[in-house]
Amino acid sequence: MKLDFKLLCSRCDETVDPSGTPGVCGKCGSPLLASYPLNEIAPRFKLETLQRRAWNMWRYREVMPLAEGEHPLTLGEGGTPLLSLEALASKADVGELLVKEEGLNPTASFKARGMSAAVTRAAAGGAPGFVAPSAGNAGAALSAYGARAGLPVRVYVPKDTPPAIVAECRALGAVVVLINGVITDCGVEARNWSEKTGYFDVSTLREPYRIEGKKTMGYELFEQLDSSLPDAIIYPTGGGTGLIGMWKACEEMETLGWMERGRRPRMYVVQAAGCAPIVRAWQAGAEVATRWDKPETSAGGLRVPSALGDFLILRAVNESGGAAVAVSDSELLRGAKELQHHGIGACPEGGATLAALYRLRTDGHIGRKDRVVCFNTGALLKYLS
Ligand SMILES: Cc1ncc(COP(=O)(O)O)c(C=O)c1O
Repeated sequence: MKLDFKLLCSRCDETVDPSGTPGVCGKCGSPLLASYPLNEIAPRFKLETLQRRAWNMWRYREVMPLAEGEHPLTLGEGGTPLLSLEALASKADVGELLVKEEGLNPTASFKARGMSAAVTRAAAGGAPGFVAPSAGNAGAALSAYGARAGLPVRVYVPKDTPPAIVAECRALGAVVVLINGVITDCGVEARNWSEKTGYFDVSTLREPYRIEGKKTMGYELFEQLDSSLPDAIIYPTGGGTGLIGMWKACEEMETLGWMERGRRPRMYVVQAAGCAPIVRAWQAGAEVATRWDKPETSAGGLRVPSALGDFLILRAVNESGGAAVAVSDSELLRGAKELQHHGIGACPEGGATLAALYRLRTDGHIGRKDRVVCFNTGALLKYLS
């Protein structure tokens, strides 16, 4: 099956063939990013092309890692609603507040998008099984897509991962190993298992395609906002795949001629005060982040002490004119409660985006006329325990 795109190293000048099961750049160990022949694609891939297609993330197949005529491993991911919250917009004193409700994806989080793309390619490339470290949601998504591919899955999660998520992974057929540590400790175990067995390691940015799935959030926003993007996007950032992906989507949409240059949103990172390596780096004006010692937060998805794509996150924030803020656990849980009281089944990480909005508005980063999109990245139901 011929793949009509290349993989480029995000840091050095290496180009990698996308066939098989590529991981990171062999020369410098940085993430690989898919690069499509956009100028060739542009004449046949227009916004009008999408009108006849199903409302899911594979409607953007020309800019997705698929061969001509290939069917992805899908469970109907993407196509999530963008909901306007008028009362909270007034309270936050912004022009418009929209929530991208990612809890409505298969396995109830945005991780479905990335795993659909990653498992599609790795299964086609001959992976015998899949392994990943996870704060929970990525593991659940991997369990589902691995089952869809008919391949075994093993996930390593911190031992305080919500029981509903652990049970979900197991129900979907995965082996779940609970680790007395954080996600980076789980990552070490996952890499060991991968080396021992040949299982494909689907860790964040250690393979090139989760980001391709996540970037579709940017394409969807553009369609949902009548061919425009918001002034500000607030993203709960752990490994940062979604933020990097949406920034990549902006670049692609500009090259495709869908969007004028200079119309990109400002990208805002929110992290938990007990684990905020990207915020600390951004405040120091650094290009990379240093590892956060003793990460502590009840928002598991934000308990990521070091991210392989730190420099890509910081670059997107800086190029966009955005910012990075940390909120306390009580602020993010209050944010989630508030969203819940307006009917959104918010997870703690989703709550962090509302807490960040209040902060960013008070600090003047976000203006009173701004149209703001907050991401609710997962569903409340998994966190009730
Ligand atoms: C609900 C939720 N929100 C946000 C994140 C952070 O996502 P990312 O690693 O893409 O920054 C995670 C990651 O586990 C998550 O589960």
